[in-house]
Amino acid sequence: MTDFKNLRKITTHVLQEMKLKGEKITMLTAYDFSMAKIIDKAGIDIILVGDSASNVMAGFDTTLPITLDHMIYHASSVVRGKVRALVVVDLPFGTYQGDSKEALQSAIRIMKESGASAVKMEGGREIIDSVKRILTAGIPVMGHLGLTPQSIYKFGTYTVRATESTEAQRLREDALLLEEAGCFAIVLEKIPAVLAGEVSKSLKIPTIGIGAGRHTDGQVLVLHDMLGINQEFSPRFLRRYHNLFAEITGAVTNYIHDVKNEDFPNDREQY
Ligand code: KIV
Repeated sequence: MTDFKNLRKITTHVLQEMKLKGEKITMLTAYDFSMAKIIDKAGIDIILVGDSASNVMAGFDTTLPITLDHMIYHASSVVRGKVRALVVVDLPFGTYQGDSKEALQSAIRIMKESGASAVKMEGGREIIDSVKRILTAGIPVMGHLGLTPQSIYKFGTYTVRATESTEAQRLREDALLLEEAGCFAIVLEKIPAVLAGEVSKSLKIPTIGIGAGRHTDGQVLVLHDMLGINQEFSPRFLRRYHNLFAEITGAVTNYIHDVKNEDFPNDREQY
């Protein structure tokens, strides 16, 4: 548990120092106040308000339907729950790709209305103008390369990316472009571990991997996946730290049983 009296808040500078010291960076998603409070107290470095909220909170098949207003609602709830962690918010699909001015407006809304500390954006050279414009406003940007779920209809599959040399080379170049533009970190999703290690070594800024092996500077997982709330999703890279689906089912089953059998509430549980 975090010692909140002696705590050092996580900033983008702290993350840079962690990379220099070789200290691994931890990131998990959260979308609400209560979960954010728990994972912040447990000592997580970065809380990502991911657009995976579209899947795990709203039940959509992809991350595409979630809106900027939804992301701001989730992000402001998370910000109220944290003390130490850096809160990074995904810019949702359709709010930054085509027009860098619109991208800046979207990022400003997230920063102003949620109180978060940074935004994350999927893509490389094709979004570089938007990345640069957002950075000029003093908003820290985290990049995201490899399997970028907002492009699922282009990829057609959630399988591992950059296994062949052209795509791998493009990813190396995009990572460098994002670093040169001023991003403070880059998520590398579902790419070969050797490539992720090579890119991490070549960059001065930290990389955060998901399904990208152990040689990245940090790791990220979707909270609902690693807690075993979400049972349907079990890719090779996912380590389940709990089976909350079973735990919650057990608790709810017991509650139903107790109410039906007039065991709850008992004499001590009433006024
Ligand atoms: O939206 C999300 O949860 C993400 C992580 C998988 C990196 O982008």
